[in-house]
Amino acid sequence: MLAGGTAVAQQPIVIKFSHVVANDTPKGKGADHFKKLAEERTKGRVKVEVYPNSQLYKDKEEMEALSLGAVQMLAPSLAKFGPLGVPAFEVFDLPFIFDSYAELHKVTQGPVGAALLARLEPKGIVGLAYWDNGFKVMSANKALKAPADFKGLKMRIQSSKVLDGQMRSLGANPQVMAFSEVYQALQTGVVDGTENPPSNLYTQKMHEVQKFVTLSDHGYLGYAVIVNKKFWDGLPADVRTALEGAMKDSTKYANDIAKEENDKALEAVKKSGKSQFITLSADEKKAWKKATLKVHTDSEGRIGKDLIQSIYKETGFDPSKL
Ligand code: LMR
Repeated sequence: MLAGGTAVAQQPIVIKFSHVVANDTPKGKGADHFKKLAEERTKGRVKVEVYPNSQLYKDKEEMEALSLGAVQMLAPSLAKFGPLGVPAFEVFDLPFIFDSYAELHKVTQGPVGAALLARLEPKGIVGLAYWDNGFKVMSANKALKAPADFKGLKMRIQSSKVLDGQMRSLGANPQVMAFSEVYQALQTGVVDGTENPPSNLYTQKMHEVQKFVTLSDHGYLGYAVIVNKKFWDGLPADVRTALEGAMKDSTKYANDIAKEENDKALEAVKKSGKSQFITLSADEKKAWKKATLKVHTDSEGRIGKDLIQSIYKETGFDPSKL
């Protein structure tokens, strides 16, 4: 045992990758794919342990664990960076700011996205990539068709002030809650409704305790894959290069499957017959857009007017055309 030098040197480098969703989701599959590629390409010098479904840490704890180095890699939703001191990521939560994945990718795969990731470095975190989930549906035990239908409803949100503003602009009472607690909160009536892409709604069985699902596509939910900077910078250079390659290819994989995973989940929810789908007419959608537009201007102080404008420029979003 005490021939320690070699024994220690042969221990694999362990990357604990913690996340809060099910394996069978865009993020879950992306994490598993990264594990496979990272281990293959480093020929076992790196071992990636994926901990899904909040089994290791819930939302808030996982951020703290990353900062402390208790885990090395996470992929939190972009709505969860406020507590880290980088609320600018909440720009992705602005209602209706992206009409499609193509518009969104202009930001996440362009200079605006890169500059945002760079803001993490002073916090001791390296942002490696953006991973897609998708566009959100709104669910409740009552039909949500018009903004007036939200009045007084308790709606679970992630820890984003922009999402808080969004729910308030619709007349609802937002409640921040860890993802792992949402199903039970819906089931017991602690909250009345929530929002998420279909892949999360379905894999957490939220549709079984929500009578109505509005196909509103009112906002986007995606992730930044992040690592502890000290850990990352301390890796042998060839290992880090191999991991960067594995991340690049896993990112392509995760983003390629995201839409299909959400389409499949929506189909499965529909087939279950547990919740009724509500589609919005063009006029109804316009009413949602008008009601929530003020969140864009209200968020300028928190997110930065320049950042919001730079995204409008990339995507062609024009508030005066609503
Ligand atoms: C949520 O809390 O609703 C999402 O951020 C969960 C996730 O990671 O997709």
